[in-house]
Amino acid sequence: WAGPAGPTRPPAPAPRSLRATRRRARIPWPLLGSPAVRPPPPAVRVCARHAEAQAAARQESALKTLGTDGLFLFSSLDTDGDMYISPEEFKPIAEKLTGSTPAASYEEEELPPDPSEETLTIEARFQPLLPETMTKSKDGFLGVSRLALSGLRNWTAAALPSAVFSARHFQPFLPPPGQELGEPWWIIPSELSVFTGYLSNNRFYPPPPKGKEVIIHRLLSMFHPRPFVKTRFAPQGAVACLTAISDFYYTVMFRIHAEFQLSEPPDFPFWFSPGQFTGHIILSKDATHVRDFRLFVPNHRSLNVDMEWLYGASESSNMEVDIGYIPQMELEAMGPSVPSVILDEDGSVIDSHLPSGESLQFVFEEIKWQQELSWEEAARRLEVAMYPFKKVSYLPFTEAFDRAKAENKLVHSILLWGALDDQSCSGRTLRETVLESSPILTLLNESFISTWSLVKELEELQNNQENLSHQKLAGLHLEKYSFPVEMMICLPNGTVVHHINANYFLDITSMKPEEVESRLFSFSSTFEDPSTATYMQFLKEGLRRGLPLLQP
Ligand SMILES: *[C@@H]1O[C@H](CO)[C@@H](O)[C@H](O)[C@H]1NC(C)=O
Ligand SMILES: *[C@@H]1O[C@H](CO)[C@@H](O)[C@H](O)[C@H]1NC(C)=O
Ligand SMILES: *[C@@H]1O[C@H](CO)[C@@H](O)[C@H](O)[C@H]1NC(C)=O
Ligand SMILES: *[C@@H]1O[C@H](CO)[C@@H](O)[C@H](O)[C@H]1NC(C)=O
Repeated sequence: WAGPAGPTRPPAPAPRSLRATRRRARIPWPLLGSPAVRPPPPAVRVCARHAEAQAAARQESALKTLGTDGLFLFSSLDTDGDMYISPEEFKPIAEKLTGSTPAASYEEEELPPDPSEETLTIEARFQPLLPETMTKSKDGFLGVSRLALSGLRNWTAAALPSAVFSARHFQPFLPPPGQELGEPWWIIPSELSVFTGYLSNNRFYPPPPKGKEVIIHRLLSMFHPRPFVKTRFAPQGAVACLTAISDFYYTVMFRIHAEFQLSEPPDFPFWFSPGQFTGHIILSKDATHVRDFRLFVPNHRSLNVDMEWLYGASESSNMEVDIGYIPQMELEAMGPSVPSVILDEDGSVIDSHLPSGESLQFVFEEIKWQQELSWEEAARRLEVAMYPFKKVSYLPFTEAFDRAKAENKLVHSILLWGALDDQSCSGRTLRETVLESSPILTLLNESFISTWSLVKELEELQNNQENLSHQKLAGLHLEKYSFPVEMMICLPNGTVVHHINANYFLDITSMKPEEVESRLFSFSSTFEDPSTATYMQFLKEGLRRGLPLLQP
């Protein structure tokens, strides 16, 4: 379900159809090691074909020379996919072989220090992923090579427990001029869409961060040395919104989709993708002072990380997936930013650290907020910015049935193995196409109460003796579930009147890559995504069966 990534081991179903997803998902030309593959406009296609043929020939000859594993390693270094290794691309290997890292990194170049500015200390708190929460731990990681997991097992502490930042470097968190309370904006816009596909899995080293990416890259580097501020899959990027405004300060809440590469050559890539990073910053409107900063991976659900690793040399077929739980991944400012150099009345410099080693005490003005937005509302707006399908609200499981009873409506429910509304797995194909298409949004909004749940959560509900009616609801759902995702239409009393498995859904809606390609380039206003049409049919069938059974 998660793409070529198909979870290969858990419960049962054919990984083939799982894998079909992302391939089928509009990447008619998966190119080994190439970055975002965006379909060019039709006019460019003819020349592109020639170039593609040349590239294919070069790949072919490289394969002869290097073998699959060799070509795999080569492609992972050839970040621009031109089949030549530039000195920049060779750098990681040079560093590995010579054991030296160049003293100054690009980050220091982009964020030069200024002795008169304010600085703050940020601490990283990290508790490693709990291996027993991974599905593959059930059989003691049988069939998973130790090498595959070594990057994960090795990651037991934050790379940098503490770091000093300049307040000014947080400027990218400032809103664009005129931004209103609660109106989201993109700090790092997503460059991916349904039609651009995804970035290559086959990479080890993040591209050098540029502009606003630098601060986010540097913050995430405190956890692990190889953060990718842009995820391989949509929705990528970082989105923010103002949650409080005063005369001199802003509170900005943000949501970042980023991931880490835990392996290095010669091992195969291992991707670690937390559901999301969220948090807030309170900073002065000129970004010279940071009052507070916190960034964390939410840990309130039972699973919050998606992991995908390659175990062979081919991009599309040899990938394993699992999900797990990381208890803590958090950055926090140890206090407001303070000037590193203070001038006394005579203009001479006072060190902010007294000779005794104590710091000078600073007194900070109290901030009087003029406008404020609740944390929940801000979180919801950031979520809708990332996931337009969330324009329809998805209620918690039992609440959805209470509401359906009250409004005498049917329940549209999605039961899945991984979460639907963050990056920790599984719902991708569904939500990127079907659930955010406008006819579906309209029908869901008008005629259904929607909910989604994790299998694990419903199993807990089913075992919870406290509420019999909840137990019964969960039981009716689990009865109809098959791995990995089941979409269901239910009566308010929990009876499932119609359901469809995601694999089956994908099989019946799948098109051959050639068909996708020809459709992509012939499409016009009449283009209709077959999966949207099929989902529409599914909902309508649910209404046909369910409506007559609703209480009059
Ligand atoms: C794991 O840690 C050991 C010891 O620090 C190191 O030698 C090894 O290269 C690391 N392996 C990976 C995959 O990072
Ligand atoms: C859902 O319906 C309500 C009430 O009719 C309407 O205000 C809202 O805009 C609709 N939302 C969507 C996403 O269609
Ligand atoms: C069980 O849940 C239902 C619906 O949410 C609620 O109305 C009822 O009071 C609960 N019963 C108990 C015993 O907690
Ligand atoms: C729910 O209601 C329908 C229609 O009234 C009925 O046929 C069905 O047996 C009920 N299911 C349960 C579990 O009570």
